[in-house]
Amino acid sequence: MSQEVSNKLRAEAPIGVFDSGVGGLTVAREIMRQIPNERIVYFGDTARVPYGSKSRETITRYSKQILRFLQKFQVKTIVVACNTASAYALDELEAETDIPMLGVVKPGAKTAAEVTKNGRIGVIATDATIDSQIYTKYIKELNKDVTIYGKACPLFVPLVEEGLWQDPVTDEIARRYLTELIDIDIDTLILGCTHYPLIRSTLGRIMGDAVTLVNPAYETAQELKEMLEQRGLLNRTPPALGANPYQFYVSDSAEKFKRFANSIIKYGILSAKTINIEEY
Ligand code: DGL
Repeated sequence: MSQEVSNKLRAEAPIGVFDSGVGGLTVAREIMRQIPNERIVYFGDTARVPYGSKSRETITRYSKQILRFLQKFQVKTIVVACNTASAYALDELEAETDIPMLGVVKPGAKTAAEVTKNGRIGVIATDATIDSQIYTKYIKELNKDVTIYGKACPLFVPLVEEGLWQDPVTDEIARRYLTELIDIDIDTLILGCTHYPLIRSTLGRIMGDAVTLVNPAYETAQELKEMLEQRGLLNRTPPALGANPYQFYVSDSAEKFKRFANSIIKYGILSAKTINIEEY
């Protein structure tokens, strides 16, 4: 096979994307928007969500099983679309394989470090992500003069999954969580959990216009595109007419996942399959 043909075949391989459940669809959606020629195999660990309240050991074990599952599809790269898994498992996953990987934390941290003017950055995320201090670590590597304030907002995940995106209950809880960040005058807020972009308008209204919201999903898709381009892996061939470039797998009910996914992703009819991730 000529080098050119083999590169083209590699470029046409799918991208693996995984998350603890449905939240990573906000990342998958950005990839679909920004690099529409790409095929995606998505895995959502809906039977074992949330990761945000679990230990490093458990998150890493789950993530390694998912890596082994995604390897079956000869993926050309893997996006760890979960902030919690990016915080705890990414290094160990990278050590297990040559497949290039991208987490969501670094891209979000980089943007926040660039956009802050007053050097006061807030991060909202799961308990585990906040405890890991991962955003602080990456931001400080880029700019040691900024101050980072982390705030765990565990109730946002169930509220989003209940569909309460625009609801007085979500409003009330968001106000309670965010008041302390408003009081310390941050000018940048990282939405450090996959679910939070879905309540972005509520968060933006409460924080006010002076605060820039950073959505790591957007930055990750951008960085992914650059990485694929640099490695000659960007897919230049659009999917064939009628072909479904997106495959979704979950560890719990596929029907439930599809209902949620169809409210987020507007790119064609979605099909999803349940698999037993414990076999990997
Ligand atoms: N996907 C997770 C994250 O971004 C949120 C849900 C969970 O706790 O598993 O951190």
